[in-house]
Amino acid sequence: MSTAIQGSASKDFRFDVVVLGGAGHVGLPLAIALASRGLLVCICDINEKSVATVLGGELPFREEGAQQLLRRALDDGTLTASTDDQVIGEAEHVVVVIGTPVDGHLNPDPYAVPQALRAGRRNLRPDQLVVLRSTVYPGVTQRVERMLADEGVRVDVAFCPERIAEGRAMEELFSLPQIVAARTPEVRQRAGSLFRHLTNSIVELEPEEAELAKLFTNTWRYIKFAAANQFYVMANDHGLDYDVIRKALAVDYPRASDMPGAGFAAGPCLLKDTMQLAAFTDNSFVLGHSAMLVNEGLPLYIVSRLKAKHDLSTMTVGILGMAFKGGSDDIRSSLSYKLKRILAFSADSVLCTDPYVTVDESLDSLDDVLDQSDLLVIGAPHPEYRRVPTSKEVVDVWNLLGRGTTI
Ligand SMILES: NC(=O)c1ccc[n+]([C@@H]2O[C@H](COP(=O)([O-])OP(=O)(O)OC[C@H]3O[C@@H](n4cnc5c(N)ncnc54)[C@H](O)[C@@H]3O)[C@@H](O)[C@H]2O)c1
Repeated sequence: MSTAIQGSASKDFRFDVVVLGGAGHVGLPLAIALASRGLLVCICDINEKSVATVLGGELPFREEGAQQLLRRALDDGTLTASTDDQVIGEAEHVVVVIGTPVDGHLNPDPYAVPQALRAGRRNLRPDQLVVLRSTVYPGVTQRVERMLADEGVRVDVAFCPERIAEGRAMEELFSLPQIVAARTPEVRQRAGSLFRHLTNSIVELEPEEAELAKLFTNTWRYIKFAAANQFYVMANDHGLDYDVIRKALAVDYPRASDMPGAGFAAGPCLLKDTMQLAAFTDNSFVLGHSAMLVNEGLPLYIVSRLKAKHDLSTMTVGILGMAFKGGSDDIRSSLSYKLKRILAFSADSVLCTDPYVTVDESLDSLDDVLDQSDLLVIGAPHPEYRRVPTSKEVVDVWNLLGRGTTI
């Protein structure tokens, strides 16, 4: 694997790559990974605090294995960061990985990426390659191509979606195949050359195919979780433990070995991308909307079951884990917070704790929550909770404690 881009930084550009949105959960690991391969990388991000944190050698969020590589890249001078969008014009490759959330009514924003590029277009230079890496609403790549062409900006455009899971980026960026899409074989080749610094496994598609490939990837996962959560509810309603059934049916039966356990299917991507696909099909995506009802309904189901067993109005309920998934500090679209809101209405009081989350000052220590709660609910399956020292009732949909999942 080579460690320098041909005809690059040293000749016409100061950097090989600028990552727009590079202080975010996806952009930062990518910038670090490319810099670790010897490329000259500049992060460009509007978040001043995150840029300062990165320049100080710290990560703004947890990402396994990234800290050491970040510091090494800063020391080696292969990575830097800036809030000044003029750096966009100083790199041969401009990778755009800004956030693309849905709004409060679950509508996608197809203008997020074009607007970010429109704002920075005065800095774009002929012969640059613009790589869209955010997960976009179908058709956004073409919109960007047309917008830039209409404005006389002569750059190549590719769409190369990110498919890592948060927390595993520093391993998956080097091991997952990279989907590379562009309008011509030459531009696909050019974008492929960039990502070959990370992986030799390149899969080529047309831009419209690649946009759907990314959305299908996340939606498929979301629907699988919904199937598991619906099976969980079915079994639980009949006093049976879904996890016992799931493990038994998969014994020496590979066709069912991928059936997931139940649990909160949350976070910034899965629901959002399922809703992007729903909007793309004029909201006739029955399976996607059903998956949303099941997954988003799980906190309410848990509370309804608890209300059938207990007088919650006299009880303090403790939630263990507020991040959207185990081992993470990310609370974006976490269903633990939905659970907290529902419990706040039904229970006497709610206490919350999380060993990783640093952005929520209302959290209590694990000891206080264990001590003061009458009843506990696992909200995120952090490994720390596997041996949680309590004899109190714990609602554990993941079966993290191995005491069963029934409520
Ligand atoms: N989080 C994941 O696990 C994951 C995985 C694969 C793909 N994605 C996709 O990657 C994209 C980014 O997601 P994320 O989780 O990293 O979001 P994020 O919010 O963590 O990061 C986005 C970054 O972009 C910056 N930003 C926003 N507008 C900007 C602009 N105009 N110029 C410069 N910087 C700007 C923000 O300050 C932020 O640091 C989304 O499209 C998401 O769907 C996310």
